[in-house]
Amino acid sequence: MVHLGDIVPDFTAQSTQGEVNFHKLIDGKWTMFFSHPSDFTPVCSSELGTAAKLQPEFSQRGVKLVALSCNDVDSHLQWLKDLEGSMSGGRKIEYPIVADPDRSIATKFGMLDADEKDKEGRAFAARAVFIIGPDKRMKLSILYPSSTGRSFPEILRVIDSLQLAAKGPVATPADWQPGEEVMIAPSVSDEDAKRMFPDYRVIQFASGKAYVRKTKVPQA
Ligand code: BEZ
Repeated sequence: MVHLGDIVPDFTAQSTQGEVNFHKLIDGKWTMFFSHPSDFTPVCSSELGTAAKLQPEFSQRGVKLVALSCNDVDSHLQWLKDLEGSMSGGRKIEYPIVADPDRSIATKFGMLDADEKDKEGRAFAARAVFIIGPDKRMKLSILYPSSTGRSFPEILRVIDSLQLAAKGPVATPADWQPGEEVMIAPSVSDEDAKRMFPDYRVIQFASGKAYVRKTKVPQA
């Protein structure tokens, strides 16, 4: 199991783009590593198609996509034809799909769902969304079961939040959307907050404590 803040495990594996070494592939880049239970399945196909359609959004954020599915590379290459033919809005799938037929990578990353089994009784990989920072550390982890396709607007939203927080001592509130105010991190003293965010405002509470400090999004 990989926890937030851990350096993610390395592996070398076959993919639709040839052999990949994960650490080399993601070195210095924001990465979304997302897993799939199986090739030629409906929900997985919709997700890989959606990821391809949203490739410009990920590229704009400097996020490299790396998919994984628990079949071999020959199966992936056959599936790719279906995906590019009918699921990706005519776009090429620019990201590699890593082969993991023995689930060794899924096991290393803690992607398996013990409650969801294939016909052979082996645990399916969940629909993991791992956002990994340029330092190869796990920044965000969401696990969906095989029955629930991922929310890509939410994935883009959390990437925006993570990238903002990486730039400055701010955090984003519940349901935050890009362009809305952010909150100054609790670790920042009022003195530093005034210097860093001169226009910040404080929400008044019955307790008199000034712990919600809102500010416009800091410019890069
Ligand atoms: C699917 O992608 O549709 C799927 C895969 C495995 C189990 C259930 C659904």
